[in-house]
Amino acid sequence: MRTIQNQAAENLILRQKQYLETLIERYNQRTKTSKQIAQTYRQFLADNKSFVNFNLTLKEVFYPIVAKSSLGSKIWDVDGNEYIDFIMGFGINLFGHNPQFIKEALIAQLEQGIQIGPQAEFIGEVAKLIYEFTGMERVAFSNTGTEAVMTAIRLARTATGRSKIALFSDSYHGHYDGTLAQVKMINGNLQTVPIAPGILQNFVEDVLVLNYGNPQSLELIKHHAQELAAVLVEPVQTRRLDLQPQVLLQELKQLTKESGIILIFDEMVTGFRIHPGGAQAWFGVEADIATYGKIVGGGMPIGIIAGKANYMDGIDGGMWNYGDTSYPQGKTTFFAGTFCKHPLAIAAAKAVLQHLKTQGVTLQEKLNQKTLQFIETLNTYFKKEELPIQMVNFGSVFGSAFSKSDEAAEDSQPSIVFDLLYYHLLDRGIMLRGQGGFLSTAHTDEDIRRVIWAVQDSVEEVRKAGFLPH
Ligand SMILES: Cc1ncc(COP(=O)(O)O)c(C=O)c1O
Repeated sequence: MRTIQNQAAENLILRQKQYLETLIERYNQRTKTSKQIAQTYRQFLADNKSFVNFNLTLKEVFYPIVAKSSLGSKIWDVDGNEYIDFIMGFGINLFGHNPQFIKEALIAQLEQGIQIGPQAEFIGEVAKLIYEFTGMERVAFSNTGTEAVMTAIRLARTATGRSKIALFSDSYHGHYDGTLAQVKMINGNLQTVPIAPGILQNFVEDVLVLNYGNPQSLELIKHHAQELAAVLVEPVQTRRLDLQPQVLLQELKQLTKESGIILIFDEMVTGFRIHPGGAQAWFGVEADIATYGKIVGGGMPIGIIAGKANYMDGIDGGMWNYGDTSYPQGKTTFFAGTFCKHPLAIAAAKAVLQHLKTQGVTLQEKLNQKTLQFIETLNTYFKKEELPIQMVNFGSVFGSAFSKSDEAAEDSQPSIVFDLLYYHLLDRGIMLRGQGGFLSTAHTDEDIRRVIWAVQDSVEEVRKAGFLPH
C-alpha cells in the first residue's frame, strides 16, 4: 500500500488514472457552485481552512464545500446537496445543528439587544453552572479556546512566579505563540523550536515539549520541577485518540501537587462531552485550572478559564464583600477582551448548561455507547476485508488510528488513500473531519447505517481502482 501511496501522479497506473478522472468529474459536477466560489474569491480571500492537505493529484477537488443551511445531523450546500455532518463545528455541536432550545435563547437575546460594556445578564448564573458541572471554584470568560489557554498559562506564571511550562507533543492548544513549540534534532542536539515561521524563538524558550504516554516525561518534569509554572495537558489528544493514559494523568497530578506546579487540563474537546464533568471526572483527576470552549458556547464563540479560587484570583484580586473592610488583595495579572462575556455567547451557554443539567449523565453515556458501536462495526468490516485501517474513539470523538507520527516516520506525503476515501464519502453525502469526526445527539441510527454503507461502498471503489490491496 505504501508504494502505491508514494507514487507521483504521472506514475499512476491507467486504471487509477481513469478512476481519478471519473471521481473528479462527478464530484466537480455535484459541487460546482462551491468550486466556483473558491476560484472567484481566492484572489481576495486568504484561507487555509481545508479538511485534507493540498495534494497535486487531487487539486481539482481541493475546495471547501460551501454550506447554505443546517439542521440536526444534516448540512445542505449551495448546490442543494445534503450531507450527514460529522465535523459538527469541530466538536461544538453536541446537540446537532440549530437545536430549538439554543435558537430560542439566541432569538430572545437578540430581541433584548447585544449590549457590551455593562454586565451580561446571565453571566453569574453561567459561572455558577460551570462550577456545578466541573467543581472548578471560579470562572472567567474569553472568546476562544486559544485565549483561554493563553490566560491559564499567564495565571499559572503569576501564581508561581516561575517561567517554564511543560506540554506534550501531538497535543493541540490553539494558536497562541507560547504553545506553538516542537522538539527538533539540530546539530545532534534536541532543541525546542517554533512550529512555523513568524513565531519567535523567545516565545517557546520556556516551553518543555514532552512525549505523551511516556513515563520518562515524568522524570523530565521532576528534573525541571523548580522552574515549572505549569504542566498543560490535553487529556486525550484529538490526534491520538487511542492514547487514554489514566495512570499517567494520576501520576502527573501527584507530581505537580508535590512540586507546586499548576496542572492545567485543556478540556476544549473533552469538556461536557466525555462526561458532564469532562475528562477530570472521567479519569478521576482534578486539575488546578481547566480551559473549556466549543460545546458550552452552543455555536457562539467562547472560551472559559476555570480553576481553584487562589489561581483564578489572578484575574480580579479575589473574593471580597460589601459592608465590611474586605477588598481584593490577590496579586493580579493582565486580562482583557472587547468581546468577552458577549451576551449572545452567554445566553447560548446558559441554554446549553441548563439542557445538560436536565438531561443528566445519560446523555453522554448513550452517545459514547453509540459511537463505540459505530466504530466497532467499521473495524469488524475493515478486519474482515483485511484492510490496513483501524478506527478509534474517545467517547463521541472518533478518528483513524493512522497517527500523525506513523505518517511522519514513514512518509512525508499524507496518504492519498485517506484523501480519496474522504472525497468519496463527500460524494456520497458524508462530511467527515479528515479521517474522523464527532457524533452528536442528533445523529440517528439511520445516519449511522448510511455512513457505514457509504464507507463500505467507498472502500470497494478505491480498492477496485487499485489504491488498496485486494
Ligand atoms: C484541545 C484544544 N485546545 C484549544 C483549542 C483552541 O480553541 P479555539 O479554536 O477556540 O481557539 C482547540 C481547538 O480545536 C482544541 O481542540
